[in-house]
Amino acid sequence: MDSIVVTGNGPLEGEIPIAGAKNACLALMPATLLTDAPLTLTNAPRLSDIRTMTALLESLGVEVAALQGGQVLALSSHALDSERADYDIVRKMRASILVLGPLLARHGRAEVSLPGGCAIGARPVDLHLRALEAMGAELDLRDGYVHARAPGGLRGATFEFPLVSVGATENALMAATLARGTTVLKNAAREPEIVDLAHCLRRMGARIEGEGTSTITIEGVDALDSATHPVVADRIELGTFMLAPAIAGGSVECLGGRLDLVQAFVDKLAETGVEVTETERGLRVTRTNDRVRAANVVTEPFPGFPTDLQAQFMALMCIADGTAVLEERIFENRFMHAPELLRMGAQIEVHGGTATVTGVERLRGAPVMATDLRASVSLILAGLAAEGETLLSRVYHLDRGYERIEEKLRGCGARVERVRG
Ligand code: UD1
Repeated sequence: MDSIVVTGNGPLEGEIPIAGAKNACLALMPATLLTDAPLTLTNAPRLSDIRTMTALLESLGVEVAALQGGQVLALSSHALDSERADYDIVRKMRASILVLGPLLARHGRAEVSLPGGCAIGARPVDLHLRALEAMGAELDLRDGYVHARAPGGLRGATFEFPLVSVGATENALMAATLARGTTVLKNAAREPEIVDLAHCLRRMGARIEGEGTSTITIEGVDALDSATHPVVADRIELGTFMLAPAIAGGSVECLGGRLDLVQAFVDKLAETGVEVTETERGLRVTRTNDRVRAANVVTEPFPGFPTDLQAQFMALMCIADGTAVLEERIFENRFMHAPELLRMGAQIEVHGGTATVTGVERLRGAPVMATDLRASVSLILAGLAAEGETLLSRVYHLDRGYERIEEKLRGCGARVERVRG
């Protein structure tokens, strides 16, 4: 198993290109199931999660060609020959549940294993199922699988999500594009990945209004067509790399970064004293003062502060001047990075969904490991500001969501090496 060694060595200078969004791409790829016509995604990130989704779609009979080194994905469902998403693949990645809505909408039936994924709480899929049921799906949960049928096809419905769910909104949105009549999704997620999916579906001929607000209206159409769509920039990768100079000092330009994708996060950076400016090519982040100030964070659905940046922000708070309270409101078990950061000399107390972080002058390198994607990257960030070496094991979590992370950081002067094992 590979590991990564980070040696803290002062300020960073340079630029980092931001890839297409993993989470957008994982929702866009299953959209191919809605049509026999080809779907081409450009600006796709090259990540193991994308390869997992590729394997899942291929197991259903979808043709997937990864072109230009994987940055272009050409998908076609014209020879689809299965409606069963097997446990063997689904257990690797929770986003696999996103094939359920499109399969059901187009083929009237689907069997999808209940997912696994990151170990960050119970993460049920009840909302996905309830939204599809409202559209007339008949569901049966047996042997760890959702057996779904829509004998006469799905029909439009009004459904209000009892809590905001990104994945359930995506599943319902895709299913509704081919349902008979009008679907109104209330309390829908507003994340940029939802907006990106709606844009792609519209390019395919879907009739959608209101994406990016909490009410999305979809007029079902008979069929969708071919389309080419560029995947939106990854706001979580962007936020992660913006934290690198915030933590290590210096100035880094994140190419392709957009303020509207990370406004709540940038507001927090401003509170800490880190400067963010828009440039022609993206966002530049500069830390000039000696130490950042502590800032409290509450994670919320978009446009609030993203849960997927909480771990990385905690790494910054570990070396801030003062005490920060970080409240996690999306997932109940998302402080797995805290005990690892403690090993590096951080001062953190966790009580339920709240972590209180008192900044220290300096962290110390240590062997650490993490059990989820964002927790892993927070330890790399912490390593940039630590004295000595930080050795991160279980790097496969990192490879799920960050493309060439060691190269990107090295490009700015960081000492980050992958050790093959
Ligand atoms: C997506 C992102 C993930 C991010 C999360 C929240 C992808 C592939 N993943 O995950 O990186 O951390 O949004 O921004 O896009 N819930 C239920 N029942 C459901 C569905 C969700 O109770 O049927 C709960 C979850 O347990 C969680 C909350 O709703 O507490 C939000 O989850 P959701 O927005 O659905 O997250 P994902 O789509 O899984």
